[in-house]
Amino acid sequence: MPLQVRPAQPDDVPALARLAAATFPLACPPDSTPADQQAFIDAVLSPARFDEYLADPARTVLVADEDGELVGYTMLVAGTPTDADVRATLRLTPTVELSKCYVLAGHHGAGISNALMAASLEAAPADAAGIWLGVNQLNERAQRFYGRHGFRRVGVKHFQVGDRLEDDYVLERALDR
Ligand SMILES: CC(C)(COP(=O)(O)OP(=O)(O)OC[C@H]1O[C@@H](n2cnc3c(N)ncnc32)[C@H](O)[C@@H]1OP(=O)(O)O)[C@@H](O)C(=O)NCCC(=O)NCCS
Repeated sequence: MPLQVRPAQPDDVPALARLAAATFPLACPPDSTPADQQAFIDAVLSPARFDEYLADPARTVLVADEDGELVGYTMLVAGTPTDADVRATLRLTPTVELSKCYVLAGHHGAGISNALMAASLEAAPADAAGIWLGVNQLNERAQRFYGRHGFRRVGVKHFQVGDRLEDDYVLERALDR
């Protein structure tokens, strides 16, 4: 079966949490420790947290399903950002956050991320004027990918991973409808 991008279902949660745990370290800078990454995975990417995300009407979780194997996912979070640095920097409101965008390492460069991005932009709330995200300042591959999809750097923010405070760029783009 060809690649299918679809909303995550409750019975995807165990595989989704495994996918999230396998892909989160790929976005971390080289000096981020396995212990800090694991602390983040336990706190934010556990099956229990994904159960909550799927039940939250402000969130949309999409999965890339290839022959029954989950190979990537995104999560949108609608609403005003909780981070004051982000609120001060965004130019377009109402907004939605592309909070997660992850593809298994063996599937990079294969168009799966493009399909996920297209579906995520499509799934953004109808009233959103803009979409934003945070990306680690050392994550050049992701920055290039987001740049190709129209995101531009508008500011910086910090992101807690375990005991470390990482430096992110804030990227934003308009949602044309
Ligand atoms: C970010 C991600 C979803 C992008 O998907 P992808 O399939 O890798 O994206 P693409 O291959 O289409 O595009 C990546 C771009 O970076 C380039 N690239 C590849 N390796 C690179 C590197 N080491 N440094 C800089 N650029 C790099 C590619 O040539 C491509 O550029 P192009 O668009 O000009 O051709 C995917 O890489 C991923 O899941 N990464 C790990 C998790 C992650 O970092 N998520 C983002 C968190 S904010």
